[in-house]
Amino acid sequence: MEHKFTTQSFASAKEHRERITMLTAYDYSMAQMLDQSGIDAILIGDSLGMVVQGHDSTLNVTMDEMIYHCKCVARGAKHAMLVGDMPFLSYHISDEEAVRNAGRFIQEGGVHAVKLEGGKSMAGAVKAIVRAQIPVMGHIGLTPQSVHVFGGFKVQGKEERKAKAIMEDALALEDAGVFAMVLEGVPEKLAKVITERVSVPTIGIGAGRYCDGQILVVHDMLGMYSDFVPKFVKRYAQLKTNIGAAVSDYIREVKCQAFPEEKHTFQMDSSVLEKL
Ligand code: KIV
Repeated sequence: MEHKFTTQSFASAKEHRERITMLTAYDYSMAQMLDQSGIDAILIGDSLGMVVQGHDSTLNVTMDEMIYHCKCVARGAKHAMLVGDMPFLSYHISDEEAVRNAGRFIQEGGVHAVKLEGGKSMAGAVKAIVRAQIPVMGHIGLTPQSVHVFGGFKVQGKEERKAKAIMEDALALEDAGVFAMVLEGVPEKLAKVITERVSVPTIGIGAGRYCDGQILVVHDMLGMYSDFVPKFVKRYAQLKTNIGAAVSDYIREVKCQAFPEEKHTFQMDSSVLEKL
């Protein structure tokens, strides 16, 4: 498996109706496992604020923390395209600051593209970053950095006014030059119409079956995080249960001296021992 997934691969996947696979990762070991399993692209998501740092939203995550996690992931992934998630307030203040922060993701974090949340209102920042030759992935619908505006993690776009606004957001992002866009927490039929109308791939999370690709938070799909499990998550493993069982076995074996066994130990010459 020598191919490297790029922004061109995103475009070609849409053209050839091949589904794009994405997952999040935040560290070297997980990135290596996803990469070696053949994932197309990895998002170093600010969801790490919840599943790694234990906050109840993504709003506390800083630029420096994102760069640290991007660097870890970049060491583990050889084939997947890497997308760094711009944290809250890193692209809102001015286009200049947005470009500078996006540049840090590329130069320091070692990723290939950035993602930011928002549609029409963020089109200026997207254009400025794209002008700096940095590929941008959009993100609209249930944008977690707007959790306090939405009053919770709620599905967006069920009613006409909101659905029209999300469609306008999608068109504004396409016009601003994104290479792909995440559609999160929107009705399946709205995601389908957007996917048919825009020329760039849509990557769904809680957006149904008709997007050009799918993304999940890796801790959700592996069953490692249970504080909040959205309806759209499918658990492909139950690692929290497996890890709990393994740790209980370890505790029991250490307590009853079943671990370590001789095969886990290092030996030394008895002549050396006698000289001590
Ligand atoms: O932060 C994140 O992991 C995300 C995905 C859920 C799309 O933005």
